[in-house]
Amino acid sequence: MTRDGSPSLESHRWGCAFHSRHGALTEALHVYVQEGLAHAAAQTAGPLQILEMGAGTGLNAALALDWAQQQGRELHYMGIDLALPEQEAWEAWRDSWPQRPSWMEKAQRIRDAWAAGQRFVEKGLSATYVPGLASEVSLPSGMHCVFYDAFSPTQQPELWTSDALAPWLAALHPQGYLVTYCARGHVFRAIRALGYRVEHVQGPPGKREMLRASVVSHR
Ligand SMILES: C[S@@+](CC[C@H](N)C(=O)[O-])C[C@H]1O[C@@H](n2cnc3c(N)ncnc32)[C@H](O)[C@@H]1O
Repeated sequence: MTRDGSPSLESHRWGCAFHSRHGALTEALHVYVQEGLAHAAAQTAGPLQILEMGAGTGLNAALALDWAQQQGRELHYMGIDLALPEQEAWEAWRDSWPQRPSWMEKAQRIRDAWAAGQRFVEKGLSATYVPGLASEVSLPSGMHCVFYDAFSPTQQPELWTSDALAPWLAALHPQGYLVTYCARGHVFRAIRALGYRVEHVQGPPGKREMLRASVVSHR
């Protein structure tokens, strides 16, 4: 359980939680939906293309699709992960929510599709899971928002270098944004060294700042 009463999973492999211990749901809504997706959506009227590094439980995917549906926006999500949580672990996570959230039905259907090797499709919405290593998968282009949700630089320093971040930034639409919960100085500098604009944005409760990067300054 995280501090806002929403559950997370702990990875034995990396010895850390999938989400912020300050609040899994609060962080996901703040970093990825509000400061990422909604911010990017304000720049374009058409269908939204979203890419995520670390699909995990599908929490960010379900929240993104749920937000798009509420806004009446078309949205196509693609999440990369080397492996999804095992079924038993995912069900334990689902069953640990104190009150079943309204978007959980969507999360369940996304998870079922992914576990069956299929793409989730619903009117104007889709969610695709691509298994593979972040450094090896070939990434799409024209993404309006990239959710960069790797484990932290302490656990996975190799995923926070300029070399690792470059293809995820290159996937951006010219008016797209990459957002991440991580606001460490070396990550900020790694993004800036690649020639992108990067800013500190107020973080969710428990974290002072997060990062948002864009191709050019268009505000
Ligand atoms: C912080 S969790 C992501 C949580 C997820 N966004 C969610 O909503 O539940 C990080 C994820 O990155 C995945 N991962 C770690 N290293 C990876 C790599 N090198 N390539 C692809 N996925 C990786 C892990 O399997 C894990 O699911």
